Amino acid sequence: MEREEALALCERLVAAMAAGGSELAEGQLHVPAAEYRDPTRWRAEVDRIFRAVPVVLAPSALVAEPNSFVTRDVLGTALLVARGADGVARTFVNACVHRGARLCDGAGSERRLTCPYHGWTYDTAGRLVGVPHRDQFGDIATDGLLQLPTAERHGLVFATLGATPTAGEPAAPPDLDTWLDGFGPILDDLALADQHVVAVSELPGPNWKVAKDGYFDGYHFSALHKDTLGRVYRGNAQVFEAWGPHQRFHFATHRLHDGGMTSAHEHPRPHQLMGTVTALFPNTAFAGDRDGLLMSQVFPGAAPGTSITFQTHLRRRPLDPADTSDLDKALERVRYLEFVVQEEDYATGLAIGSNLPAMAGAAQDFVFGRNELANQRFHTWVRHFLEIDSSQ
Ligand code: FES
Ligand SMILES: [Fe+2]
Repeated sequence: MEREEALALCERLVAAMAAGGSELAEGQLHVPAAEYRDPTRWRAEVDRIFRAVPVVLAPSALVAEPNSFVTRDVLGTALLVARGADGVARTFVNACVHRGARLCDGAGSERRLTCPYHGWTYDTAGRLVGVPHRDQFGDIATDGLLQLPTAERHGLVFATLGATPTAGEPAAPPDLDTWLDGFGPILDDLALADQHVVAVSELPGPNWKVAKDGYFDGYHFSALHKDTLGRVYRGNAQVFEAWGPHQRFHFATHRLHDGGMTSAHEHPRPHQLMGTVTALFPNTAFAGDRDGLLMSQVFPGAAPGTSITFQTHLRRRPLDPADTSDLDKALERVRYLEFVVQEEDYATGLAIGSNLPAMAGAAQDFVFGRNELANQRFHTWVRHFLEIDSSQ
């Protein structure tokens, strides 16, 4: 982020804090608790959002080199993102076309992917390149692994998950220009294509919207995160930006609150006086800046009450295994963030999930306050894709 832009955002934060805390929405938004657990509603969210719009499957940094791959089990389908020897990232169904066995697990780098069942072998562009005892097998009419439409942009691999997988050439790639709605330069600010992976993890969580709700508000910092994030960031001191369904928001540090614009003008890198979250609809959020990022992708699980979050810790400076103090510091930061997300945010989210039946049974609403504008925008966009009018 340019210095001028950071100063302008600091100025908005300082003004918001002088007026009471955060920038405000026009009114409140009521979301019935039942909307978090109704199976019909949940199925519609999966079909009309997750299967309809281009969704980020992985950061490019996870498949940085030719012949690298990462598996992603999402929405009940086993997928495989692989970068071919030609440098192109593709999304495959992680299933051998012989009789459907799972081809690979985890992540790695292999020139050839060999099916564990009968040993059919594919290259990383998905072409079938080896069949044991081929002369005995008879004819094989296949163009290789099944593919989903994929596009790589801004250091991210997007795919259309609801498309019918096809062998050989995939259907037309997702139209990212339309989908990103001007958000591309905001993603570019994170320099995702230049990032290196520090650590990855998968976290089971509550309903995907319950999980997502925790990413949007700074209102909870001084309560839930009082001993962690709340020591750095002020609760309820947030400003908001939006590009179509995508958002970016900024939280004031105590330092900005205490020092005001004088501290911002004196700071060599004023963006460090804010915490920034860049949120790509529907499910991907980046916390931090180009020097260090926590990327979180939340996918619905097998039922309304579950989700899975792929976390990738990224940073621009590669890890030097010889520099143990650098490595220790990087891993300490990973553990700290994992603690915040797992023990604070997701523990709270799972408890909310347990309370949903009682809340929904009593026809309770979750109320998003005027100071929870990013949450309001998120739910309004979810409803938009479900063709539900939020103004009613
Ligand atoms: S199912 Fe893969 S080789 Fe038979
Ligand atoms: Fe949180």
